[in-house]
Amino acid sequence: MSDIALKDRLIVALDMPTVEEAARLVAMLDGGVHFYKVGLELLFAGGLDFAEHLKSHGKRIFLDMKLLDIGNTVERAVANCADLDFDFLTIHGHDLKTLRAAVAGRGDSRLKLLAVTVLTNLSESDLKQQGNAMTPSELVVHRARLAHEAGFDGVIASGQEARRIRDAVGPGFLIVTPGIRLEGSAMDDQERVMTPEHAIKAGADHIVVGRPITQADDPKAAAMNFLHHIKEALV
Ligand code: C5P
Repeated sequence: MSDIALKDRLIVALDMPTVEEAARLVAMLDGGVHFYKVGLELLFAGGLDFAEHLKSHGKRIFLDMKLLDIGNTVERAVANCADLDFDFLTIHGHDLKTLRAAVAGRGDSRLKLLAVTVLTNLSESDLKQQGNAMTPSELVVHRARLAHEAGFDGVIASGQEARRIRDAVGPGFLIVTPGIRLEGSAMDDQERVMTPEHAIKAGADHIVVGRPITQADDPKAAAMNFLHHIKEALV
């Protein structure tokens, strides 16, 4: 198990329509949550400035931009992002060309690059529809190997594939896992979900939780409950 502080293992997805709502949630979670994911929804509502504000208040930031473009564009976008001093950035991990361009753009900055393997809301039939003959877990492991070969720091993957990734790429490669749900709770639009215990035990380093915390009646209590489950899994 990697040497990551418990408080950094839970990443809360700030999937909110406005910075005001995100700021209210962060205030409610104060003292419990230290790592936030800013994604596409908040990005277009002032999310980048808000992420810089959180960073200046000691929070860790995962920019979930899921970049995918020609190598030159990805390289230059990652280089600009690396100057902003965030912690994690996502790039779609479809091919070595794009992955290597991202690594070149990151240079010697401390920004960690994570490859999105297969989105956790996609099932086998969704992949078939895309023209892809592999099962989700085969494709996840294939893409994790590519990301590892390109020099990425880790991948985003469902907890259901964490063990196979760990077996394929070994220790020291980050596995960051969304699609986390407690036993018996709503799946929302996710398909390949897992409990925090199972994800951590299967080799996940960080778990990403959105709606089960952001839409809870008491978000702080929900976050503390997730941290408790992570802690139990680490013992
Ligand atoms: O609300 P929920 O816990 O389902 O949110 C999961 C978060 O993780 C969302 O922000 C989603 O964009 C993100 N994500 C995902 N699957 C991936 C990569 C990111 O669900 N493969």
